[in-house]
Amino acid sequence: MDAVWSLEPHTRAKHEILRRYLEAWFPIVKRLNPSGLNYIDGFAGPGIYSRGEEGSPIIAIRTAMEHVLPMPDISFMFIEKEEDRAERLREVLAERFPELPENITHEVYNDEFGNVIGRILDGFDAEEKVLAPTFTFVDPFGYSGFPLDHLKRLLEPRGSEVLVTFMASRLRRFLDEVHERTIDELFGSSDWRVARELSGEQRTQFLLKLYKKELLDSTPARHVMTFEMVGRHGNTIYWLIFATKHPKGCQVMKEAMWKVDPTGSYQYYDSAAGVRRFILDEDDPEWASQAQDEVWNHFRGKQVPVEDIEEFIAPTTYLWRKRKILVPLEDEGKILEVEGRSRRRTFPGGCLITFAP
Ligand SMILES: C[S@@+](CC[C@H](N)C(=O)[O-])C[C@H]1O[C@@H](n2cnc3c(N)ncnc32)[C@H](O)[C@@H]1O
Repeated sequence: MDAVWSLEPHTRAKHEILRRYLEAWFPIVKRLNPSGLNYIDGFAGPGIYSRGEEGSPIIAIRTAMEHVLPMPDISFMFIEKEEDRAERLREVLAERFPELPENITHEVYNDEFGNVIGRILDGFDAEEKVLAPTFTFVDPFGYSGFPLDHLKRLLEPRGSEVLVTFMASRLRRFLDEVHERTIDELFGSSDWRVARELSGEQRTQFLLKLYKKELLDSTPARHVMTFEMVGRHGNTIYWLIFATKHPKGCQVMKEAMWKVDPTGSYQYYDSAAGVRRFILDEDDPEWASQAQDEVWNHFRGKQVPVEDIEEFIAPTTYLWRKRKILVPLEDEGKILEVEGRSRRRTFPGGCLITFAP
């Protein structure tokens, strides 16, 4: 393939999601670690498309540079296996950013993601240092070269997150023996072999569910969301898988997707319910009553901090609009008492909510 290729509409949308997400992530994580953050683009590409459109590395730096808020030190690491693409990326970075502010640094590694990450993490371990909060974007053409074990280590620092383009439909066609080692590394186990007994959509669903399970069970991620990228003809192009340790990350990602395309080319796959759904925003007429019902059914008779409700909403299709969900429940007498607030009909952080039996 050429060093540069044309930009597909779904890639443009993915870039917009990334941009919106980072716009929110940089300042949130700055509060966790004011001294610095890392951004890793593990499959960086040449930084440019055939008509001059910007690639993900440029978009990420631009988001930090043009941010309205003061940014912390951000170290951008771009990893690209192909020499001509890595070289092109260096040129594009120099062209687009002839001068960078002191707090922004970048480095292009012409190597494989696995090698670079292994070296960096081993170096930190050897010196007993901890990596700063890190956002890792894993955007391959296929399904090889990003072992689960590396994602696990990258998710360890506080505030770290991973966004993966998961080529489920490509993967499902190559479950033969030749690819066994690669797929074992991808999942961090050999459990995927069961998928050989399945076919078509069932096979895809199995692989997606398993990947999500492995991320939840074998890495520090506490929430994993899967979004199906649907093409113009209703075909699945790929899945975006987002792993985070904090419910706020889910909320921000859902907001980013919602804003990019509220009509829902991106469907959130609710693996618990086994269905695809659109992200539900407050503009949806069904939104408020459905969200209230789900919270009420789950928490009825319990006393919980408001953060537990936020955690409950995180992996669902609802956005966390706490007043819109909780005020009506209180008005209907389904919330009996709220401890730790000074004003009625508010639900500040740390407040304790008692639901009616
Ligand atoms: C889908 S493209 C990346 C596009 C880019 N993230 C963007 O949005 O503009 C995937 C890139 O990963 C590179 N690549 C493939 N295997 C790799 C590996 N193991 N490590 C690093 N880069 C790899 C390919 O050469 C290709 O340029």
